[in-house]
Amino acid sequence: MNRNLNDIKIFVSSVLPDIGIDMLRREGFNVICWNNDTPIPPDLLLENARQCNALLTTLTGKIDADFLNACSHLDMISQFGVGYDNINITEATKLGIPVGNTPGVLTDATADIAFGLMIAASRKMFFMHKKIEKGEWKHFTPKSNLGVELKHKTLGVFGLGRIGIEMAKRCKGAYGMNIIYHNRRQDATAEKLLGAKYVSFDELLAQADVLSVHSVLSDETRGIFSKAAFNKMKPTAIFINTSRGGLHNEEDLTEALQTGKIWGAGLDVTNPEPMLKNNPLLNMENVAVLPHIGSATAEARNAMATLAAENIIAFYKNGRIPNIVNGEAMERKIL
Ligand code: GLV
Repeated sequence: MNRNLNDIKIFVSSVLPDIGIDMLRREGFNVICWNNDTPIPPDLLLENARQCNALLTTLTGKIDADFLNACSHLDMISQFGVGYDNINITEATKLGIPVGNTPGVLTDATADIAFGLMIAASRKMFFMHKKIEKGEWKHFTPKSNLGVELKHKTLGVFGLGRIGIEMAKRCKGAYGMNIIYHNRRQDATAEKLLGAKYVSFDELLAQADVLSVHSVLSDETRGIFSKAAFNKMKPTAIFINTSRGGLHNEEDLTEALQTGKIWGAGLDVTNPEPMLKNNPLLNMENVAVLPHIGSATAEARNAMATLAAENIIAFYKNGRIPNIVNGEAMERKIL
């Protein structure tokens, strides 16, 4: 591509780690950043994107069909994050707008949060912490505050990809857990690595002591963890979601916990986000909730910013996006 990088305007729609912005500026791009820690209002996102050549966005930027058609001039979109359900990929592909994302670099950070939430829920940690704050730590009580142990239990992974595999490794290494999983396709390599067994969705629900969600959010998976699903789970089961809140129906989850259909839950993602402070889940003994911090380590966030910048730089300098989501759009791109 023979364009002068100084003429290329990149709009960055969230406050991101400096390392990525500095990389873009060092290459000579004209980088315009949204400098407020609150998400950019949709009209301002549109106004800025209209005047730029490429967009660096995050999961809070709603890049739907209307937006894409109003910004069909965009050369490319770089998503800071591995999930890209905020972007209508079908429409972007139709319009010939390639989209890049940042997989791989937040795998450990997110698996750690899933693993931590599993332990926190199993031992009622967040609820017990609140008791101390309320001055309710009185004395040692042999028969109360009892959690459950995880040793040799069965972990059911919904979506055994990069993050699901790391969660499974942690559970196997720490507790000798038995691993079962459900995916669109069987994964022989992961099965060998983990001794994991492929099961149907219903078998996953019926057999898991801990069910951890690591799947993408798509039309196929939206709301899949609903009343019907929770009813099929063990009354002793713990449900963990660190993927996207849209995968579970939160009213159904709350009811399943209240009526003892399942035992506990650990959520890093909620439906909707942000969770309101009066949400009943926050006062349940066996529930641990975090505010979508799966990738929130300095290492992961800096690596995500680096990859997001690299996707843009490689696109303009070499005509390719290292981590491309919709290769078809790239193939059709005339550079
Ligand atoms: C964060 O949730 C991501 O998808 O990267």
